[in-house]
Amino acid sequence: MKKTKTVYVCQECGASFPTWSGKCSACGQWNTLVEEKIDRKKHTHKTGVKTTYTRPLPISKVKKEDTLERISTGIGSLDEALGGGIVKGQVLLISGEPGIGKSTLLLQVANNISEKRKVLYITGEESAQQVYIRGERIGALSDNLLIMSETNLENIISAIEKENPEFIVLDSVQTIYSSEIESAAGSVSQVREVSGKITELAKSKNISTMIVGQVTKEGSIAGPKVLEHIVDSVVHFEGERGHAYRVLKVIKNRFGAAGELAVFSMKDRGLEEVKNPSSFFLSERPEGQAGSVIFPFTEGSKPVLVEVQALVSKTVYAVPQRRAQGLDLNKLSIIIAILEKYGRIFLKDRDVFSNIVGGMVIREPALDLPLALAIASSFWEKPVDKRIAAFGEIGLTGEIRSVHYTEHRIKEAKKFGFDKIIVPASTDIEDSSLIKVRTIGEALEVIKNVKISS
Ligand SMILES: Nc1ncnc2c1ncn2[C@@H]1O[C@H](COP(=O)(O)OP(=O)(O)OP(=O)(O)O)[C@@H](O)[C@H]1O
Ligand SMILES: [Mg+2]
Repeated sequence: MKKTKTVYVCQECGASFPTWSGKCSACGQWNTLVEEKIDRKKHTHKTGVKTTYTRPLPISKVKKEDTLERISTGIGSLDEALGGGIVKGQVLLISGEPGIGKSTLLLQVANNISEKRKVLYITGEESAQQVYIRGERIGALSDNLLIMSETNLENIISAIEKENPEFIVLDSVQTIYSSEIESAAGSVSQVREVSGKITELAKSKNISTMIVGQVTKEGSIAGPKVLEHIVDSVVHFEGERGHAYRVLKVIKNRFGAAGELAVFSMKDRGLEEVKNPSSFFLSERPEGQAGSVIFPFTEGSKPVLVEVQALVSKTVYAVPQRRAQGLDLNKLSIIIAILEKYGRIFLKDRDVFSNIVGGMVIREPALDLPLALAIASSFWEKPVDKRIAAFGEIGLTGEIRSVHYTEHRIKEAKKFGFDKIIVPASTDIEDSSLIKVRTIGEALEVIKNVKISS
């Protein structure tokens, strides 16, 4: 019997089919099916195989000790975002655009950890020389930090078994291949195999592991969703080209809360943590300019004040332009429609540009209100008072809806001197700094009428 069979695997969702077609019938994406060879031997169960049985335990009898021993990455805000450092045996996937600084961050972390523990940094993307040059530049040349330039999974596994490191970096999963699978490195089967095997090894030997994952041009992690399911934690590293800020967001974490973030600044000597992101993002805020509103953003316990900007100008085109940087274009269109309907702000002959300053990408609904106010401010050419901050979701009937983490947001805004905070009316916190609004109309009245602070 033939040992290998050819299947066509969707590179987006991982579904496999016996024949090729232009569209994946599982996820609906076009041109994502790629031919891959599967070794049949591996997938058939032999009869008479010896099995082992581990007795299940009552949950109350499960031992807690050691399982959550955490290793510090040597970067305070990263430890905090991960829930207190990386757990022994934890497998973390870090993704981000090319050149954003993934390898730099991981080399810094590897170097910090190597002060006390043995670390193995495996690179499939660069030569050991290239890593050395980066190490020299950022001051990461510890003797306990072993570098290995290798792309073969089996060689990597035997190196890990021989060296017994306590921390591994794998840069990147898409460049590593297993010789047991015929398809090319980076294909779904390979990514699945490599991440699966490395995770298995990390768990059995209790090695903390950070894996780099490349992203597709749409910005999602290359390879199937299954990769995100296999690992314990997923963090995304993002920032704007040409800017030094880098934001690390925790997307998933089996050992802590998701939604946490850490902010860095890219310097010659590597990434430097920004201990106070709010003041960092506010440092270049223009004074007395229309179209700028401060938004206390958070998806976890740590809020950050960011500036939302809008520019409304007369269009020279038949169809006015809508541009969104750092936010969803659909969201911008909806907010524009709401402003036209409930705010009498007519934008049919205006171009509307919007931006989150600092390269942050924000998808949370609480952005609606500051975005709407920034657009209105630019439309009226009336600056919003510098002590105003705002957050809240806007419903399609113009109502302002409550959002998560209200208390955290208010606290952060007040800490930075914002004492006119426009919030949803349902906010059950009593504070003289709060201006509660029920509808977008009320919120617009507030920014129109508030006396500008000197
Ligand atoms: N000599 C230098 N001085 C300052 N910054 C540098 C220097 N060399 C590189 N960088 C910065 O480091 C970035 C590259 O970082 P790094 O190689 O860690 O990115 P990466 O996310 O691993 O990229 P890739 O996906 O291509 O592997 C560059 O975009 C640049 O901002
Ligand atoms: Mg890299």
